[in-house]
Amino acid sequence: MHGRRLATLEEIIVLSAPESDVVVDSVTAWAGTHDIDVTELDVGTPVTDDHVDRTRTTMGVTVGGDGTFLEGARAFAPHRIPLLGINSGTLAFLARVNPDDVDAALTEVFRGRASVNARQQYDVVADDIDTTGINELFLRKHPPEERYGTKVGSLHVFVDDEYVGEYFGSGLIVSTPTGSTGRAYSNGGPVHYPQDNRTLQIVPHETISAAVDPIVVSRDSDVRIVLDADFDIDIDGGRQFQRLDAGTVVHVTGANQPAQAIRTSYDDPFITALVDKLDWGLRSVDDDGPRAALTGATEDESTDFRTRAARVAREAAESAGEPLREIHGQVEHVEYKTDKSDIVTEADYQANDIIRTAINSEFPGHEVQSEENDDVEPVDGYAWLIDPLDGTGNFAHGNPNYAVSIALLEDGVPIVGVVYAPESGEMFHAVAGGGAYQNGRPIEPTTRDRLDESMLLSGYDPDGGFLQAFYQETQGVRRLGSAALHLSYVAAGSADALWEYDTRPWDMAAGLCLLREVDGRATDQHGERYELRLEDDEAVRTPLLASNGSLHDRLLAHLETVEM
Ligand code: IPD
Ligand code: CA
Ligand code: CA
Repeated sequence: MHGRRLATLEEIIVLSAPESDVVVDSVTAWAGTHDIDVTELDVGTPVTDDHVDRTRTTMGVTVGGDGTFLEGARAFAPHRIPLLGINSGTLAFLARVNPDDVDAALTEVFRGRASVNARQQYDVVADDIDTTGINELFLRKHPPEERYGTKVGSLHVFVDDEYVGEYFGSGLIVSTPTGSTGRAYSNGGPVHYPQDNRTLQIVPHETISAAVDPIVVSRDSDVRIVLDADFDIDIDGGRQFQRLDAGTVVHVTGANQPAQAIRTSYDDPFITALVDKLDWGLRSVDDDGPRAALTGATEDESTDFRTRAARVAREAAESAGEPLREIHGQVEHVEYKTDKSDIVTEADYQANDIIRTAINSEFPGHEVQSEENDDVEPVDGYAWLIDPLDGTGNFAHGNPNYAVSIALLEDGVPIVGVVYAPESGEMFHAVAGGGAYQNGRPIEPTTRDRLDESMLLSGYDPDGGFLQAFYQETQGVRRLGSAALHLSYVAAGSADALWEYDTRPWDMAAGLCLLREVDGRATDQHGERYELRLEDDEAVRTPLLASNGSLHDRLLAHLETVEM
C-alpha cells in the first residue's frame, strides 16, 4: 500500500455535479446501511466549519467528473478531509471510481482498506487572485482586439531570486504532479508520478523559442512570472479565469496543505490509467507479465504470515503517524490519568483507533489490546499489543521524541515488533526469526563491554538512583522520554543499555522483539530474564535492564553495589 491507510469513517460530505442524483442516492443508501451520516452539497457550495464535525472522521465524496473532484479538493483540503472521487459521467483521471463500484469502494473505505495519498497543491497570488489549485495554472496571451494583432507575448520567469529567462510564446503552464497529465503534458512536459511528489513544473505553452524547456522546481520555490503583455489566467481548467494586465507579477508556490486523495482498489493505478486514457505505447493495460521478474513483488503470495503481520503493523504505524505529525506541537488539552506526568491526549485516541481498525481489517480474528483500552490480559494464540503514542509527555510539549509501538504476541511472546517515530521517520521492525531492521536496513547493537566507553539511556528513574550510579562511570546517561524508542536505540546501536525502573507491557512489547532479534539482553536488576507481564496491574513493578548483551554483566555487577 502506498500512502497512509484511512482507518475510520463516521460521516460523509457529498459534493455533486448536476444530474448525478442516481449516484448520490446510491452513496446515501450505502451510508444508511452503515449508520454513517451524509451531508449533501451541490458542487460550488463552500464547505464550512458548520458542515464539519472535528470529533468525527469525515470523508469527502465528489460525484461528477474531474472538474467536480478539483472543486472538492479545494473545498475539503483546508479541513484536512480526504476525498474520494466518483466518476458519474465521462472519462476522468482524478474521479476514478465508476458508479457500478460505488458500494464496493465505500465498503473498502469503511473496512479501513483504502489509502490516502497526499497530493501537492499550488498557491497563486496575482492582482485580486489569492487561491489554491491542485492541477495547473495556465497563463495565455489575451487575444488581440484585431484579428491581425499579435497572439504571442513574453513572460519573464524568476525562481526564488534567480532569473530563469524570457518565455516567448502563447503562454505558460505551472502544473502540480497531479496536473502533469493535462495541459502540461500536451505541451511537452513530463508525466509526474503524483504520489509523494512535492514539485511544480513550469512548461511553456506553444512556445516559438527553440531554447525553452520545461523545468521542475520544489514546492518551496517562489516562482514569479512577470507579464510583458496582457495575459488571461486560468486556474484548474476554468475554476477561476481572469484577465491580467501587462506588468502584473504572478506569484506561484507549492501549497503547505496537500489535498488528500482516497484510493481504493476500484480505481485504476496511475500508470494503468495513463495507458488506458492516453494510449501510451509502453505497455498494454493487462500486461503484468514482467512483474514476475521483480523479487518480492507479490509479497502476500511469497512470504509468510509474520512478514505480512509486520507489513500491516508498519502501515498501521505510518497511518497513525500522519495525524500525530499534524497535531504535534498544537496540543490544547490533556487528560490526567494517575498523576501529573501520566497524561493522554486526543492524539493518543486517534492513533489508537487508526491502528486498531487497520489490524482488525487485515486480521479480523485477532484480539487487539492497547494502553488506551482497559483490556490488557494474557491471550492464548495471537494478540496484538499497542501503545499508540509512547512519549505523550514529549508529544504534548512539542518535543519530537515520541513513537508508535505495535507488537504481535503469540501466547504472550512478541513475534513481531514495530516502533515508528513519526517526526524523524525512523521505522524499526523485527520479526522473530527474521531479523531486525531500521527503515529496511538490518540493525545490530554495539559490542561495547566497558562501562567507561558506554552511553546509557534511562527511562523512569524516580529518585535519580540510576543516574547517580552510572553518570560518572560512563560516557553519559540520557533520558529521551519514550521507552519504545529507548529499546529501539539499544537494538540499533545508538546506545549501549537502558534502565527503566518500572515498565508496562505495551511500552516494551515491540522493542523487546527488536532487542531479542539482535541478541540483546533484557533482565531485571538482578539478572532475571525480563518477561512481559500482561495483567494490567499497576501494583506490580516490572523493572528492566536492557543492553547490547556484552555490557550486561558489568551493569548488573555495578547495580549490586548501589541501591535501586
Ligand atoms: C511513557 C514513556 C516514558 C516511560 C513511562 C511510560 P506514555 O509512556 O514511555 O518514557 O518512562 O514509563 O509510561 O505514557 O508516554 O505512553
Ligand atoms: Ca508508553
Ligand atoms: Ca502511551
